[in-house]
Amino acid sequence: MSTLRIAPSILSADFARLGEEVRAIEAAGADLVHFDVMDNHYVPNLTIGPLVCEAIRPHVQIPIDVHLMVEPVDSLIPLFAKAGANIITFHPEASRHVDRTLSLIREHGCKAGLVLNPATPLDVLAHVMDKLDMILLMSVNPGFGGQKFIDSTLPKLRQTRQLIDKHKAEGGQDIWLEVDGGVKTDNIQKIVAAGADTCVAGSAVFGAPDADGGYHTIMKALRQAAA
Ligand code: DX5
Ligand code: ZN
Repeated sequence: MSTLRIAPSILSADFARLGEEVRAIEAAGADLVHFDVMDNHYVPNLTIGPLVCEAIRPHVQIPIDVHLMVEPVDSLIPLFAKAGANIITFHPEASRHVDRTLSLIREHGCKAGLVLNPATPLDVLAHVMDKLDMILLMSVNPGFGGQKFIDSTLPKLRQTRQLIDKHKAEGGQDIWLEVDGGVKTDNIQKIVAAGADTCVAGSAVFGAPDADGGYHTIMKALRQAAA
């Protein structure tokens, strides 16, 4: 697919050199910076927040794709919007009022999306399709980088692709379909064939730096494998 977007997850980057790391992935052709926010409540891990988003914002032109693994969600939305986030996604079970949270994200000028865990059914999308700019399917249980891709994501991707295509055929807006977890050169082709247009890759990208610290080789390898 010519429109494939690759979103390196900085969860696997060198946090001591984060500015350099995001500049390096942009130079290597990354389409988005995937920014994993964990709160040690919704998921059993603790990562980065709006201050870090604000700190990396001036280092890159590409959009910052904020994946909120936090509960509750709403109070963080204005903070991330102010910190320069472009896309904000959250897990529906982490918000009491999913429709309201989606509206809140758009009201703050960001693209909005829902993230579905491997065991979360697609039903939750039914009544909010018109409020979605992105659907993110987790292909691992959220909380950690470097986990193995869960194969049941593939039929789920095909079903989601059908939902999106139907929505568009009926005059609805475009919705990006992103996959997150365990994406590598050896499985990206079947992930894209199943309907994903945006692939997060954390350990695959940041675990494979070129000798000069760039990421051109792995980014090219992912695109070639997907083609
Ligand atoms: C997991 C995160 C992912 C993770 C992906 O909860 O949402 O974005 O960083 O890492 P890899 O690509 O290593 O599975
Ligand atoms: Zn993520």
